[in-house]
Amino acid sequence: MVNEPLLNVKELKTIFSTEKGPVTAVDGVTFHVDSGETVGIVGESGCGKSVTAESIMRLLNEQTTKYEGAITYNGKNLLHLSKEQMRKIRGNEISMIFQDPMTSLNPVYTIGNQITETIMIHQKLSKEKAYVKAIEMLELTGIPSPEKRIYEYPHNLSGGMRQRVMIAMALSCHPSLLIADEPTTALDVTIQAQILDVISDLKKELNMGVMMITHDLGVVAEVCSRVVVMYLGQVIEEADVDTLFFNPKHPYTKGLLKSIPKLDGDRNSKLHVVEGTVPSLDNIPEGCRFAPRCAYADELCLNRAPELETTDEGNKVRCWHYKRIFEEEGANATTS
Ligand SMILES: Nc1ncnc2c1ncn2[C@@H]1O[C@H](COP(=O)(O)OP(=O)(O)OP(=O)(O)O)[C@@H](O)[C@H]1O
Ligand SMILES: [Mg+2]
Repeated sequence: MVNEPLLNVKELKTIFSTEKGPVTAVDGVTFHVDSGETVGIVGESGCGKSVTAESIMRLLNEQTTKYEGAITYNGKNLLHLSKEQMRKIRGNEISMIFQDPMTSLNPVYTIGNQITETIMIHQKLSKEKAYVKAIEMLELTGIPSPEKRIYEYPHNLSGGMRQRVMIAMALSCHPSLLIADEPTTALDVTIQAQILDVISDLKKELNMGVMMITHDLGVVAEVCSRVVVMYLGQVIEEADVDTLFFNPKHPYTKGLLKSIPKLDGDRNSKLHVVEGTVPSLDNIPEGCRFAPRCAYADELCLNRAPELETTDEGNKVRCWHYKRIFEEEGANATTS
């Protein structure tokens, strides 16, 4: 097919069976990532960002997890692949940086061993060249004295150091798609910037698609071209980065943006100041999921769930009243 996206997630549902019954953590999520672009996934804690990523990687326990919809990567529906086929794609064509670095580091091998191994397999280099390359990758992620560090085991390293080793490893297999789940949250601002640069450089060099999950709207502004905003397991807005920041449509997105400190302030902004709390998955509101927290909600919102609509600009929003809100308040409603 012409111009098919690298990754196309369509109406994805991820349903966990729990003691209390089935819980739909990801509920009809649709978005895509093209080669060479970075798509941001944002939303408050618990909205299903990591579960979406883990579903794409098929990392969830399949005894207790059911998927619906399609996850098409390079024309193949990943949900239909065998475990073996999936293993070949994981850490090879699709690579993931986890929120918790220990998930992907093996405690019984030195970090040098682990990175060199990855490089030898994926870049088909000799052991000597892979070793040189491993040191280079570690250096790129800001690890001091990598030629010494390479002989250490994961447990000898600090959390931030481990995070960088994992990033070096994820990138050294030269993936076509990188899924980065809060890759820089644990790191200080200088290292954070350095790592985002490494990811950006490799993205250009390898034409890699990047799915960047983050709480940090500063990171979004810096590296993403498009942004998907999630709320309680659903996409509630999707827009190019300029529209998202300067002309957001959904009241929830507007709320998230209000939480960003001014540009000259602390750029390490977190998304947790939208008033009210996210309902739990076993108590999902009947109408619009955001209605109980929304200043604009009326009867319609409380009773009927809005669909994800395409806007005149070709972006997407799930809100009954976004046009009216825009007419009444304009794009500047967020800066009050
Ligand atoms: N194995 C599981 N069984 C049942 N519920 C789960 C399971 N894993 C995750 N959940 C629930 O799914 C929801 C989404 O979780 P997820 O980890 O994707 O959130 P998140 O958006 O990544 O949040 P954060 O920003 O805190 O990382 C949460 O309510 C979580 O409790
Ligand atoms: Mg998460």
